[in-house]
Amino acid sequence: MPKTSRREVLKAAAGLSALAAIVRGSRAAQAQPLRPTPSCPGSSPPTERQTEGPYFKPDSPLRASLLEPGMTGTKIVVTGMVLSTACQPIARALIDVWHADDHGDYDNAGFRLRGHQFTDDQGRYRLETIVPGIYVGRTRHFHVKVQAPSRSVLTTQLYFPGEAVNARDPIFSRDLVMQVSDAASGRAATFDFVLDLGRR
Ligand SMILES: [Fe+2]
Repeated sequence: MPKTSRREVLKAAAGLSALAAIVRGSRAAQAQPLRPTPSCPGSSPPTERQTEGPYFKPDSPLRASLLEPGMTGTKIVVTGMVLSTACQPIARALIDVWHADDHGDYDNAGFRLRGHQFTDDQGRYRLETIVPGIYVGRTRHFHVKVQAPSRSVLTTQLYFPGEAVNARDPIFSRDLVMQVSDAASGRAATFDFVLDLGRR
């Protein structure tokens, strides 16, 4: 057999061997059960604190849905968890949300688009509301206070991806952007809060 031909045969054999290894690896991967992607692998820094702004009101109503009859705007469901920095779910954590209406206005006389709820036994929350409007000087945002039982309050804000005003808002933080997608009834967003339980 000429030298070049032998080399080609060896090359082809090596290629086949590599292909077999890929197939074996692929079968091994298929044999293993898929693991869910952890949102908080091992440990996580606490969620960034931000100013509460001028429109917070205490004593908001206990309710997981801020929707009211006749309310205009795009519906959005925000879901997620409250976790410790060690990634342990925090049950019965308070989540208090307030935000502007579809026109960018806050209800400072009553409690429209204001409400609080508590995480369930698995540290989960689910909020139904509308996408806030944008007002002068700010990008689109929710205001939130989160508090583990008997611990200090985390005051922060949540943001929407892809907003042109994000880049011009001095308070905006990339770390506080929710994952947002289209849903059958409007939008769906997710965000996990991480609390430093050492703070009291
Ligand atoms: Fe605001």
